[in-house]
Amino acid sequence: MAGGHGADAAPGHLPVMYAQVLDALRVQGDGTYLDGTFGRGGHARGVLGQLGPGGRLLLMDKDPEAIAVAEREFAADPRVSIFRGSFAQLAHWDATQGGLDGVLLDLGVSSPQLDVAARGFSFGKDGPLDMRMDPDSGESAAQWLARADDREIADVLWRYGEERMSRKIARAIVARRDEQPLVRTAQLADLIASVMPRGKEKIHPATRSFQAIRIFINRELADLEAGLEAAYARLNAGGRLAVISFHSLEDRIVKQFFAQHSKAPPGDRRMPVEQSFTPTLRTLGGAEKADEAELAVNPRARSAVLRVAEKLPVQEAA
Ligand SMILES: C[S@@+](CC[C@H](N)C(=O)[O-])C[C@H]1O[C@@H](n2cnc3c(N)ncnc32)[C@H](O)[C@@H]1O
Repeated sequence: MAGGHGADAAPGHLPVMYAQVLDALRVQGDGTYLDGTFGRGGHARGVLGQLGPGGRLLLMDKDPEAIAVAEREFAADPRVSIFRGSFAQLAHWDATQGGLDGVLLDLGVSSPQLDVAARGFSFGKDGPLDMRMDPDSGESAAQWLARADDREIADVLWRYGEERMSRKIARAIVARRDEQPLVRTAQLADLIASVMPRGKEKIHPATRSFQAIRIFINRELADLEAGLEAAYARLNAGGRLAVISFHSLEDRIVKQFFAQHSKAPPGDRRMPVEQSFTPTLRTLGGAEKADEAELAVNPRARSAVLRVAEKLPVQEAA
C-alpha cells in the first residue's frame, strides 16, 4: 500500500515487511496491541494469530471502508476493539487507557484507496478529485484547489512533493479553474502534464503533485507527529513502536522522534553545565528495508522503510 501493498491488493500477497513487523512487535500472548492503520488487516491478522485468549487487539483507521472490513471480519472476536478515526487521537480512545505493548503505524494510502477511481487518489484512473482517507471530514482536493491562491498551492506542491515546477503548475491550476472547475483526477493530471517539460522521467508528470496534495488534504505529517506522541504516551515499558513510512518526509519525522527520546542532544560548548538526559526509548536496528525476496513479488514495497523502538522503564531518581 502507500506506494502500496497489502493482502487485499492481490490474493496471497502479504502486507509490506510482514515478517519484520511481526518480529519487531514481539507479540506476547496476553499483551495489548494497536494497529493504527488497519487498511485491509494484513498485519492485524498476523498479530491476532499470535495472541492468546487474554490478549487484545485495537484497530483504527480513518477510512470507513477499512473499518467496514474490520467490523465484518473481527467484530465477533472478543479480543478485538475497532475505532474509526485518526491514530493521532489514539490516546483519547478509552481502549488504550490501560497501556499498549505494541503499536504499528503502516503509513500512507492503501491499495484499495489507490485502485478505486471513485476515491480520487489516482492520476491513472479518472474519478472525482477527492483524495480524503476519511471522506466525511475536511475539504476534498477539488474544494481546496477551488479556493487556494497560487502561492498556497505552489507551497504545498513544493513542500510535500518536492515538485520543482510547483509555481508553474500552481499558476496553471488557478488560470484553468477560472474557466472551468477542476473536479476530476484526469483533468488535473492532464493539466499538470501539459505544463511540464517533456523529460526522461519514468514516472507520470503528476506523480509528485498528487502525492503532495494527498499529504496536505489528509494532514498526514501533522497526524504522524501527533500519533507518535500519543503512541509513546500509551506504550508500556518494554512496549514496541513500529512505523513503516513511504517517503523521506515521513521517515525524517520518525527518525527525529526516536532520536529525541533515545539519544542525548549534542553538547553545546557555550553551555557551562551539561544537561542531564535519560533515554526513554531504545531504537532497535536502523532504517530497515524490504528484502529482495519481497521486492521480487511486490515492487511497490521498494520505498518502504521500517523503524522500530522500544519504550524503556522509567528510571527511579537516585
Ligand atoms: C498502507 S495502508 C495499511 C495497510 C495495512 N497494514 C494492511 O496490512 O492491510 C494505510 C491505511 O492507514 C490509514 N491511515 C492513514 N493515515 C491514518 C491516520 N492518521 N489515522 C488512521 N488511519 C490512517 C489509511 O486509511 C489506510 O487504510
